[in-house]
Amino acid sequence: MKVSEVREKYLEFFKRNDHAEIASAPIVPENDPTTLFTSSGMQPLVPYLLGEEHPAGARLVDSQKCFRADDIEEVGDNRHTTFFEMLGNWSLGDYFKKEQLPWFFSFLVDELGLDPNRIYVTVYEGGEGIEKDTESVEIWKELFASKGIEAKEVHIGSEEDGYTKGMQGGRIFFYDAKKNWWSRSGTPDKMPAGEPGGPDSEVFYDFGEEFADPSYADKELHPNSDSGQFIEIGNSVFMEFLKKEDGSFDTLPRRNVDFGGGLERITAATLGNPDVFLVDVFTPTREKIEELSGKAYVGNENSFRVILDHLRGATFMIGDGVMPSNTEAGYILRRLIRRSVRHADLLGIPEGKLSELTRPFISVYKDHYTNLAEKEEEIVKAIADEEEKFRKTLKSGMKQFEKIEGDISGEDAFVLFTSYGFPLELTLELAQEKGVKVDVDAYKKAFEEHQAKSRAGAEQKFKGGLADDSEMSVKYHTATHLLHRALKDVLGEDVMQKGSNITPERLRFDFSFDRKMTDEEKEEVTKIVNEQIAKELPVTFEDISMEEAKKRGAIGLFEEKYGDTVRVYSIGDYSLEFCGGPHVENIKDLGVFRIKKEEASSAGVRRIKAVLE
Ligand code: ALA
Repeated sequence: MKVSEVREKYLEFFKRNDHAEIASAPIVPENDPTTLFTSSGMQPLVPYLLGEEHPAGARLVDSQKCFRADDIEEVGDNRHTTFFEMLGNWSLGDYFKKEQLPWFFSFLVDELGLDPNRIYVTVYEGGEGIEKDTESVEIWKELFASKGIEAKEVHIGSEEDGYTKGMQGGRIFFYDAKKNWWSRSGTPDKMPAGEPGGPDSEVFYDFGEEFADPSYADKELHPNSDSGQFIEIGNSVFMEFLKKEDGSFDTLPRRNVDFGGGLERITAATLGNPDVFLVDVFTPTREKIEELSGKAYVGNENSFRVILDHLRGATFMIGDGVMPSNTEAGYILRRLIRRSVRHADLLGIPEGKLSELTRPFISVYKDHYTNLAEKEEEIVKAIADEEEKFRKTLKSGMKQFEKIEGDISGEDAFVLFTSYGFPLELTLELAQEKGVKVDVDAYKKAFEEHQAKSRAGAEQKFKGGLADDSEMSVKYHTATHLLHRALKDVLGEDVMQKGSNITPERLRFDFSFDRKMTDEEKEEVTKIVNEQIAKELPVTFEDISMEEAKKRGAIGLFEEKYGDTVRVYSIGDYSLEFCGGPHVENIKDLGVFRIKKEEASSAGVRRIKAVLE
């Protein structure tokens, strides 16, 4: 099957079961200062999993664009990608295990026609004061029995004790929290107070022994081992727990289901080959690489996969407003493009051709992600410009690299980055070819110190991986709405939000505008925001239809956000904006608003940093 067919079938299946389809949120979260990218389907839904009402209801389904920067170095094998689509369905206090597991099983077997004999499942064996998930076991047994399969249970043990070897004729495998517990921060002990999570039940697809890494023949072959034979294709998280300050767990106000399944991996299962780079969305780009390089995919998988993965990720990132830079999301984008340049060179693709490889991705995805078609020229240009910029320093950087004798110190690697634009992966790859080592820890330390200077005050950003609902962050969030409206009042309605990032110390707001603001304009915006604060306006929200919201002139990043019903926040009658909250109830306590800095963020995009004093 094609990726688009699997996506459509999934959305239709859950819509038939009374789910409302919601659109994918942007790959770069709008108001979540704790993370650079949306890396799972539940991330934009955290407030709702914690108890807020979702405007579209208690049953939701979507396919969410996700990016996992941590996987950059894994790319090259047949199943890791940085960008992927996560099929998701959620119950916000509605259905639970006995609906969720049969639905997903039926989707795989009845809708996609997968062979149930190739399906293996895992469940939580208990611990952390939370019971073994026998309910899921009973449900799975019945489901397998309905296909004539007797589902034997196997206790596989823990990683520390060494997993029990072999499949032992099992179908349902018990694991500890390391494998069968899900939260954004990982295992229960790693969860900060206020974080939701719960036990999960994963589904693995058996692609066949011929795909197993031979070293696993007498090792830990079990569904959740990294042998390559079994690949996880879906995860039902029974999200009903909340970590407390004292380290124990409370139950959440509602029992939720948070399901996520890798769209490309599920499609690969329908094709019977675990290589996700063989699914149809990659085919036109893969063929274009073959044409430009004169090389075949088979035999050159590593470079092909790096380019396929990285350029697809770059295409989606630029489509969502990120531009290459030396910090945060822009830096990750830069790494994706530059590493692709290097692998394009390894394959012998002529210089200056990389950006052509983005067009086939846009044509494959443009029907579902319409923003890609609208931004096609912008995306192609951004990649072409970045390739050109990199090439200007690539040769001198290579000379510098060659001059380094012996192992590469953190400082050398850092100079290669700051003076020649070499991302760490490139230095690592070159070092490997030369047979020398890189002091990665020292590099990272130098890099972090450098990052800290460019984002002074934002150190809080990555603490704990929790959405920050502190009082100050909420105030800054409301102030962002006032700023957004005031910018439109002063600079014109064409001003559009391009991004926002809030910490308890300040707000940062990116918007489309093609020149520096004058001092008078900055003063005017500041005056307007403070005048509104002095009016002590109330902040309220309403859930209304998209059409109604547009009619009333609501502003904000909304095109792709929800289906029919959207949430809009009003600040008195001054501002009306699409948003999921949270906000203060009245703006009277915001304090005095002051713009600290107005600067260029990327081409055509300005950035304001402001504080409340
Ligand atoms: N949130 C779960 C995951 O990402 C479904 O695996």
